[in-house]
Amino acid sequence: MLLKKLSEAFGPSGCEQEVRTILREELKDHISEWQRDALGNLIACKPAAAGPRVMVAAHMDEVGLMISSVDSAGLLHFHKVGGIDDRVLVSKPVLIGKGRVPGVIGAKAIHLQRPEERTQVIPHRSLFIDIGAKSKEEALEKVKIGDYVIFATQYGELGASMAKGKAFDDRAGCAILAELLKEDYSFPLYGAFTVQEEVGLRGAGVAAYAIEPDLAIVLEGTTCNDVSGIEEHEYSTVIGGGPAITFMDTSAVGNKAMIRELVRLAEANGIPYQFKGTVTGGNDAGRINISRAGVPVVAVSIPCRYIHSPVSLLSLADVEHSKALVKLFLRSIEGGFRV
Ligand code: CO
Repeated sequence: MLLKKLSEAFGPSGCEQEVRTILREELKDHISEWQRDALGNLIACKPAAAGPRVMVAAHMDEVGLMISSVDSAGLLHFHKVGGIDDRVLVSKPVLIGKGRVPGVIGAKAIHLQRPEERTQVIPHRSLFIDIGAKSKEEALEKVKIGDYVIFATQYGELGASMAKGKAFDDRAGCAILAELLKEDYSFPLYGAFTVQEEVGLRGAGVAAYAIEPDLAIVLEGTTCNDVSGIEEHEYSTVIGGGPAITFMDTSAVGNKAMIRELVRLAEANGIPYQFKGTVTGGNDAGRINISRAGVPVVAVSIPCRYIHSPVSLLSLADVEHSKALVKLFLRSIEGGFRV
């Protein structure tokens, strides 16, 4: 299953090779023209003689860690790659480097903590990764400074139509984009699998500059806080509520005509949808939006509970509905929809 493969792939920001390989393999019978730029963006080109140039983007990278030093006891110290809450790190199993060396993020056991320590967040600088090495030398035989680290989380399905796994932000978007690219369209379509979103939306800007799109859709995994203790009006998105359309966040304002068309298509075809209820955070849409002389954009997102942590949860129905809605939007462009 593609989402499982993508979710379990090794791909923190700047280290997206494994994800690129999976996508190229998945699409080998459907895409004849690929572009890969200096940053590592992978662009699937589906040329056509006429029609607007359409960019659909999803980022390949995930949040992770990077080894910064190894101490004399053989313990690895690390930096964060992207936004990770220090509180989700303690005691998590991880995999280090391309060789996937297993390790555990260590911290002082509760028995050993002073009462005041038990109420404090342990900053990641005070944590370390234990790979079972007894010395610096032994550790450096297995890992290198600069090695990336991912959470050792396997994909699984639970409940009626939910899945758990890491990196659904944004491998869910990548999985949908791959499916969309398996079909043919009458206008030039550019499927941009971007890099380094989690460290500052870097890949998308470069990709948009190269593609010069007339309009763009960004497929994302987004926050979902529809859980107890939060007022309904503060929900960002609701899991199972369908694709989340973003009016505005800190990176971009969604194009009104595109939003209206998405809503019209959803309602006409019985596809559930929702509007993202919060404006915090940003994504690739922000960079594509301000590329060259400006590009109309809209982000369509899959709600992901516990995003940017070792394990998040999504609704497989949301994935299907998002794919269906964006596909209808692309068909609508074929039918003459213009921004
Ligand atoms: Co994302």
